[in-house]
Amino acid sequence: MGIWILFLLFLLTCAYLPQSSTDPDDEACLENLRESLEDPANILQNWTKTTYSNPCSGFTSYLQGATCNNGRIYKLSLANLSLRGSISPYLSNCTNLQALDLSSNSLSGPIPPELQFLVNLAVLNLSSNRLVGPIPPQLALCAYLNVIDLHENLLTGPIPQQLGLLVRLSAFDVSNNRLSGVIPTSLGNRSGNLPKFNASSFEGNKGIYGYPLPPMKTKGLSVIEIVGIGLGSGFLSLVLSFSAVCVWLRVTEQKMALEEAKISQLMPDY
Ligand SMILES: *[C@@H]1O[C@H](CO)[C@@H](O)[C@H](O)[C@H]1NC(C)=O
Ligand SMILES: *[C@@H]1O[C@H](CO)[C@@H](O)[C@H](O)[C@H]1NC(C)=O
Ligand SMILES: *[C@@H]1O[C@H](CO)[C@@H](O)[C@H](O)[C@H]1NC(C)=O
Ligand SMILES: *[C@@H]1O[C@H](CO)[C@@H](O)[C@H](O)[C@H]1NC(C)=O
Ligand SMILES: *[C@@H]1O[C@H](CO)[C@@H](O)[C@H](O)[C@H]1NC(C)=O
Ligand SMILES: *[C@@H]1O[C@H](CO)[C@@H](O)[C@H](O)[C@H]1NC(C)=O
Repeated sequence: MGIWILFLLFLLTCAYLPQSSTDPDDEACLENLRESLEDPANILQNWTKTTYSNPCSGFTSYLQGATCNNGRIYKLSLANLSLRGSISPYLSNCTNLQALDLSSNSLSGPIPPELQFLVNLAVLNLSSNRLVGPIPPQLALCAYLNVIDLHENLLTGPIPQQLGLLVRLSAFDVSNNRLSGVIPTSLGNRSGNLPKFNASSFEGNKGIYGYPLPPMKTKGLSVIEIVGIGLGSGFLSLVLSFSAVCVWLRVTEQKMALEEAKISQLMPDY
């Protein structure tokens, strides 16, 4: 009898524990993210100390935009909520995170390289913000990434060639940024049967060139055309100045001949 009561107590404790225990990493992640975000529309009003200290109750979350799995945050979806501020490096403490969507806000600041510690991350959508700085090459360490969408930001620097190592990558978009340099072959011309990315993934970056983008254009002219025009106009001005000198010489010659004729008419022969 006593054993049965003990067993029942044990079962009850087991059923109760996962709900009441809070993951300290998730708590640090959410608290720091909340602090780094500005929320003028007050969308995150229920992101408070009490809710993010226990964000997951079974499969649902009390927090707007958060989804839980096994008591851990596994999805954060805060797209199109007029959020400002920056992306906290402490997001890396949400170690079970599989999908991060902060797209279509007004977030500024850099993409934290610490995102590399999100080893389960499969979807990263930070598109349509005002993010600056480089694309962290360390993202290549998130081996499960299959979506990287960073289009429409103010990102600078090269496209890290390491991202080509992400064999699961099926969507990649860095269009409409301020990136520069050559498109790494590991992304522009992927080998084997890896999903291919076309020009639409890279366009809208003034400083970027290479396949699959069309040959570099500067105000609608290709490099070869510019060189051609340079050489052509150089040659033309040479020809023009040469003929100008010729004409001038001819004119002065004629003038001199005329003067000579006049003089010889005026002057009697001696
Ligand atoms: C927090 O906000 C979300 C969405 O507005 C809502 O579904 C959820 O019930 C709220 N949670 C609490 C604890 O108020
Ligand atoms: C963003 O939200 C606004 C209203 O808040 C809506 O009109 C617009 O369609 C949304 N855009 C996207 C891309 O969901
Ligand atoms: C939480 O994130 C910060 C910033 O990236 C890091 O310094 C710290 O080690 C992380 N803590 C844990 C427990 O992962
Ligand atoms: C990222 O989010 C935007 C809207 O916020 C959406 O239009 C786009 O399709 C998403 N990217 C991917 C690859 O799903
Ligand atoms: C793309 O890769 C294929 C096979 O590796 C190669 O034959 C082709 O020349 C490459 N194309 C460009 C534009 O680099
Ligand atoms: C480029 O790829 C995108 C999706 O990856 C597709 O929607 C689009 O139609 C493609 N464009 C061309 C010109 O093939």
